Amino acid sequence: MRTQGQPAWELLLPAAGAPARRRGRALQEALREAVRSGRLAAGTRLPSSRELAADLGVSRGLVTEAYEQLTAEGYLRSDRGAGTWVGGAARAAVRGARDPAAGTPGVRVDFRPGTPDLSLFPRSAWAAAQRSVLARLPHSALGYPDPRGLPGLREELAGMLARRRGVVADPERLVVCSGVAQASTLMGFALRARGLRAIGVEDPGSPEHGRLFASTGMEAVRLPLDGEGLRPGPLAAAGVRAVVVTPSHQFPSGIGWSAERRAALLDWARTVDGYVLEDDYDGDFRYDRAPVGALQGLDPERVVYTGSVSKSLAPGLRLGWMLVPEELVDEVVERKRTMDLGNPVLDQAVLAEFVARGGYDRQLRRCQRAYRERRDALIAALARHLPGTEVSGIAAGLHVIARVPARFGPTERFLARAAEAGVALRTLEEYGTARPSDGAVRLVIGYAHLPPPVVAEGVGRMAGAVGGTPRADDGAAPGRP
Ligand SMILES: Cc1ncc(COP(=O)(O)O)c(C=O)c1O
Repeated sequence: MRTQGQPAWELLLPAAGAPARRRGRALQEALREAVRSGRLAAGTRLPSSRELAADLGVSRGLVTEAYEQLTAEGYLRSDRGAGTWVGGAARAAVRGARDPAAGTPGVRVDFRPGTPDLSLFPRSAWAAAQRSVLARLPHSALGYPDPRGLPGLREELAGMLARRRGVVADPERLVVCSGVAQASTLMGFALRARGLRAIGVEDPGSPEHGRLFASTGMEAVRLPLDGEGLRPGPLAAAGVRAVVVTPSHQFPSGIGWSAERRAALLDWARTVDGYVLEDDYDGDFRYDRAPVGALQGLDPERVVYTGSVSKSLAPGLRLGWMLVPEELVDEVVERKRTMDLGNPVLDQAVLAEFVARGGYDRQLRRCQRAYRERRDALIAALARHLPGTEVSGIAAGLHVIARVPARFGPTERFLARAAEAGVALRTLEEYGTARPSDGAVRLVIGYAHLPPPVVAEGVGRMAGAVGGTPRADDGAAPGRP
């Protein structure tokens, strides 16, 4: 038996060397893993139990037992007298498929947007909150929770959101959920239950919105934006009665919706007896001006407000919230109950404790300082290395839009050269249908996860690859070769 030029029993040798009482199980696990990972391909004929036992220096009984067990599980196939083969049932697991940035070969600086700086996660404050919760939580609190969320957390979040985001926050209408993602699917099901079949999404916008609503059977209808927000004409003509929007810091364009467009959207929702899902995904980060209050504060019966800790703490916590109009509360809570019976109690209690101790506000202040510095480093580096670049959407959030002059393009060449230089980028075109003909390269640059020297290095690499000035000190005239 050989796999990829290597005798397969070498894969099993560590298991054969396990202490006697664990050897049988170790052998089975190693064989299972070899099949699962594809190192033993489907159709590979295994040696007889006698041969393999001799090669490995273990008793024949252990090998026979391993063959029988894995045959019963479907990893192997046996024909009495004819031998044992690797079956075709097992498939190698696809690892890391959800994280395109993770370990991408050749990527030195990753400007793709969406992630905060995970190294800023407040580990000690979180651990202190965890210890305190475990010490005081009664046994009875470990049963199934209220599907809306722990009352203590709903109180804390309602207070925090009213204070920070200007929402009308009644804890009775606040539902704790697994991020904006789950809020969107809960809304999708609730809207379907009311007979709606389509929802408007921003163009350009987050592709997640369309995907999440599609998973609930709702068709996503793209609605064009201009520099102020959704354009009223196409909105009225679309025939939908619900939209999902990011008015505080539009994703990805970075604009803040004008007061007129906010008012027009609410007028539209009242006219069509419809709903607005307000995704406040990075509403906590504002640099040069006071935060714009959430839309929900203007009409809490038409606007479902949602946000999460994904940008402020870590997306891996999968903790978020939604504020739901009276009419939709029962439907949303019932969906939450049937979906997962509520979020984990300990995580909710720890977040409540963390907010109550002032940890959330402290964390936002800390991130805000770090992110502002990174944003400034990015703007300075772009001005220096790619002169003429216009940067917008800078007042808030974790990313900006950079419009790089056409002389550094065209876009495909720019991206290819940047990739060769180890810089991963996203373009605005990837998020929408508009294709301006001015030849400029429009980038959506996420900076929050990168320390200032890395931001500067990334811009230098990118510029060097496309004909800008590669280093801060070279003083060379910019331009195409
Ligand atoms: C526009 C937008 N909304 C929401 C989210 C986050 O969703 P969640 O709160 O489920 O992590 C993202 C993630 O990057 C996003 O880009």
